[in-house]
Amino acid sequence: MAVRINCSIQNTLCLLNPPLFSLRYRASRLKLKPQLHRRALFCTCATTDGPPQSTEPYVVTTPLYYVNAPPHMGSAYTTIAADAIARFQRLLGKKVIFITGTDEHGEKIATAAMALGSSPPDHCNLISQSYKTLWKDLDISYDKFIRTTDSKHEAIVKEFYSRVLANGDIYRADYDGLYCVNCEEYKDEKELIDDNCCPVHLKPCVSRKEDNYFFALSKYQKALEETLNKNPNFVQPSFRLNEVQSWIKSGLRDFSISRASVDWGIPVPDDKTQTIYVWFDALLGYISALSDSQEQADLQKTVSSGWPASLHLIGKDILRFHAVYWPAMLMSAGLSLPKMVFGHGFLTKDGMKMGKSLGNTLEPNDLVNKFGTDAVRYFFLREVEFGNDGDYSEERFINIVNAHLANTIGNLLNRTLGLLKKNCQSILVVDSTTAAEGNAFKDDVEKLVDKARIHYENLSLSSACEAVLEIGNVGNSYMDQRAPWSLFKQGGTAAEAAAKDLVIILETVRIIAIALFPVTPSLSWRIYAQLGYSRDQFDATTWSDTKWGGLKGGQVMAQPKPVFARIENQTEVEDKGVAIGKTVKSKGKKLKQAQEVAGA
Ligand code: MSP
Repeated sequence: MAVRINCSIQNTLCLLNPPLFSLRYRASRLKLKPQLHRRALFCTCATTDGPPQSTEPYVVTTPLYYVNAPPHMGSAYTTIAADAIARFQRLLGKKVIFITGTDEHGEKIATAAMALGSSPPDHCNLISQSYKTLWKDLDISYDKFIRTTDSKHEAIVKEFYSRVLANGDIYRADYDGLYCVNCEEYKDEKELIDDNCCPVHLKPCVSRKEDNYFFALSKYQKALEETLNKNPNFVQPSFRLNEVQSWIKSGLRDFSISRASVDWGIPVPDDKTQTIYVWFDALLGYISALSDSQEQADLQKTVSSGWPASLHLIGKDILRFHAVYWPAMLMSAGLSLPKMVFGHGFLTKDGMKMGKSLGNTLEPNDLVNKFGTDAVRYFFLREVEFGNDGDYSEERFINIVNAHLANTIGNLLNRTLGLLKKNCQSILVVDSTTAAEGNAFKDDVEKLVDKARIHYENLSLSSACEAVLEIGNVGNSYMDQRAPWSLFKQGGTAAEAAAKDLVIILETVRIIAIALFPVTPSLSWRIYAQLGYSRDQFDATTWSDTKWGGLKGGQVMAQPKPVFARIENQTEVEDKGVAIGKTVKSKGKKLKQAQEVAGA
């Protein structure tokens, strides 16, 4: 069992560092509310470090990914989800700051670099770049990419550390316990499985004894309990809140925030013999990412550029760090808490968490190369209920993507454009509003769009996709019921009605394109191009364009061309094989090695 021994009451450095009165002075200058008892600088209002609510940006973050190995589908999953949320919020007209990045310090990264015969900085540059490349291939529209080795980040971490120290929340003590290097975390013996193995990574924990600095987490037990009671939406989905509450209830123990044995990290201010613990360092990336200054980052100026975050999206394995440690750290530093932490489930392979350490990963590049970006994004967001675990199966992937994107949406557009070309020279005969006058079909579509919006707002991404697909289904049923191909044959008023029906269906597909844009941005653009819009027109669309009435009479459609190619030859796809825990030939040698080392 991990025990802390020889605990000195207060870090002696505190006496040498800025005394409390200087922090009090800063606090009054910053209009923080100092409460100089238990938590001296816990800011209780959210108004001090952000602009007024109406102009507040929507700040969404992904975790900062460890660069021990290149990204796999599990890491891509969080980022795709964050991207869909960011794109939806932008469609609503919000100013969005979408933050992602890489977590580059600590023992795990230094060991990975060494195993490859590389220096930590070179290794980090290589792997961090592989994340950026994948994000480009997956159409990830991030605004900020923070690397924890950026100098602005280091400045912010040091200033934050000094604030917490000045608040009396850091002290020195010895630690003796079992450490999981892959989690970068000391573990309780009762959490471990056979042979002291970590239950997540299935690797033995190592015994460590160190003289460290500690953060007084236990001081914040009551404040955390109160925060969660007052704001039960802070942790989502709601079933994860119970988990967090029970951790807190079972008693919070102070945790060590420095390492004497790790060189690859940010030095502890005024003690060069220790580096700051990787989590105490990385969490600050959510704030340092907001700084525009490379060299002269200043904590207070930075928080005024968008903090607090609206949403931290994370996997369930790092919930404790985000819902317990991080809020307490922020309280100690007198900063506002993020508004929400959403812990999603795992992508699993054969029931086991897909991960770099277990070596059972799915290669996102392979999937993108074979099936395309939209298919990958759509499948994982549609198939895995956001918050729960989801298993990948290639057969299911192909079936879903073919049925939904190629058939329900792509084929509906293609056959309608074919009929319009044949019978109306690809020109819309009337405005879509006129075409749908007195037609209840339009109301059905509007109801479904509204349903999709509510699901997006609640982060129910799979249900949002389902609602949009339902619009495609009603569109197909309408087409089949009306059978415009035979109405055209009848001529006269029947043919006029058929021409209107085509406008109605094309308007429906236009609405689908916008409503599905957060999930399938490229497909949505291809649909818009088929409907005769320019890229500028497409880029200017907002969620309000999901209202019926966008298509106007006289608009000329493009030559019909499939917007989503059906995955025809399943055997061929299987022959090529999606690499599970394998590497890709086209990858650089070093990246390939990095993957192998992490999986070893
Ligand atoms: N570096 C820390 C995060 C620091 S945030 C200030 C870290 N990095 S990680 O690379 O190991 O994991 C990043 C994220 O990827 C986590 O949210 C984790 O849950 C997620 N995933 C890793 N494997 C996953 C799956 N198989 N499925 C879904 N998400 C998973 O933790």
